[in-house]
Amino acid sequence: MQNECTFVLLGATGDLAKRKLIPAIYKLVADKMISKFVLVGAALSDTTIEQVLSDGKKFITGIDEQVWQKITQAAYYHQMDFHDDSAYAPFYELLQRVEQKHGLFGNRIYYLAVMPQHFAFLTRNLAQCCIVRQRDDHGNEPWSRIVYEKPFGYDLVSAQEINDSIAQVYDEKQVYRIDHYLGKELVSNIALARFTNRVFEPLWNNEHIESVQIVLSEKIGIEGRGEFYDACGALKDVVQNHMLQILSLIAMEPPEMLTAKQVRDAKAQVLKDVNVDNVILGQYKGYLQEANVNKDSQTETFAALKLTVDNQRWQGVPFYLKTGKYLKNKEASVHIKFKMVKCLLDWCPADSNYLTIKIQPDEGIYLDLNVKKPGVNNQVTPVTMDLCHSSIFGPNTPEAYETLLADVIKGDQCAFVRSDEIILSWKIIEQVQQFEKKLYAYEKGGDGPAQVKQLDSEREITWKA
Ligand code: BG6
Repeated sequence: MQNECTFVLLGATGDLAKRKLIPAIYKLVADKMISKFVLVGAALSDTTIEQVLSDGKKFITGIDEQVWQKITQAAYYHQMDFHDDSAYAPFYELLQRVEQKHGLFGNRIYYLAVMPQHFAFLTRNLAQCCIVRQRDDHGNEPWSRIVYEKPFGYDLVSAQEINDSIAQVYDEKQVYRIDHYLGKELVSNIALARFTNRVFEPLWNNEHIESVQIVLSEKIGIEGRGEFYDACGALKDVVQNHMLQILSLIAMEPPEMLTAKQVRDAKAQVLKDVNVDNVILGQYKGYLQEANVNKDSQTETFAALKLTVDNQRWQGVPFYLKTGKYLKNKEASVHIKFKMVKCLLDWCPADSNYLTIKIQPDEGIYLDLNVKKPGVNNQVTPVTMDLCHSSIFGPNTPEAYETLLADVIKGDQCAFVRSDEIILSWKIIEQVQQFEKKLYAYEKGGDGPAQVKQLDSEREITWKA
């Protein structure tokens, strides 16, 4: 009975539901990850389940009509105003009715695919109306799990308020804060690669590593999300969550076991130790003309940060983070630069070894090595040893949301962000905001503002991406 459940999609008419969640549910059904299910969507719009599903269907490639039919036969829509207290009782009745009709046991995933200003309110109302039970038994009781989409708040204060509202009514074991980067194959590979291969851990410290770059570059702009983006900017949109999560996986101390508790303890400790050393912010030219953006907006669409992790392992190792909209390339990657070797040749290696974890595109792990130049004695040339993920494992790795929903069904919280991690990462963003707010303009399609070269006053950075 563990792999049967009701998906309750709050915000069923939104972008996330159609682009990611309905396709992810389809895949779970197609891959037989879920044996029996019901999908109940709810939102304010006066629409139908047929419309909600057909909006989502457009984002599924190679659809199997038989599988799709299974979904259409088990899907329902309920129009409701989340802020109307009286709307919850009929909604609850509907849930019970359809679960009974489809012979379901009552396991439920409540997915809050709504903006964070609704989180605290929904949290309380769902609990008060007994929709989400206040414990998560792994025994004979059906479970209720509640999923919060990002962004989790707008700042430290709002995130704390949401966390408090959750803590009042649910057990943290029921709570799944999404960061879809944690569902990406190569991000979930970081801890496994680090801790299951003897070759990495002895080198994973300031004796051997010179610096770490974490890059999340995007070719696209704000894609019609002017109002949302203008209120948050790059720091809150991707640094607070995706990039700091990647950093914490790279920098964490080896946990005793790779369990959710121990991994999240280790990541939280990194976030406690992070300090902000420098910040460069930018805005692409033309941003102020975007729809629903303030005409004198000071929102950053580019951010580069120099951070330190102040513990014994990482003392003196800068962590450089860089992200931006409308850059030359789409790439998410981590580049670990090792220190130069002592030169034993007349022609010394030109550059250090780099270990690159390519999250996207061309997912894989790449190691830059020096090897002998053919036909020439005593000279080396750099080559890249690559573990191209798709060539080895095939092109069909699951999408992040599919993986994450499967984890919620299994009750595995490892790839979800715990309440303390959320608070600690917002504190880092607060530190960043204390820096002088200079905003450098940059051209679309380039590398971001030229000033990014001055991010580290102590050394020149060669950005790998
Ligand atoms: C989202 C941000 O969290 O991540 C978007 O809100 C960004 O602005 C997106 O484009 C990037 O995710 P991905 O999976 O496309 O790299």
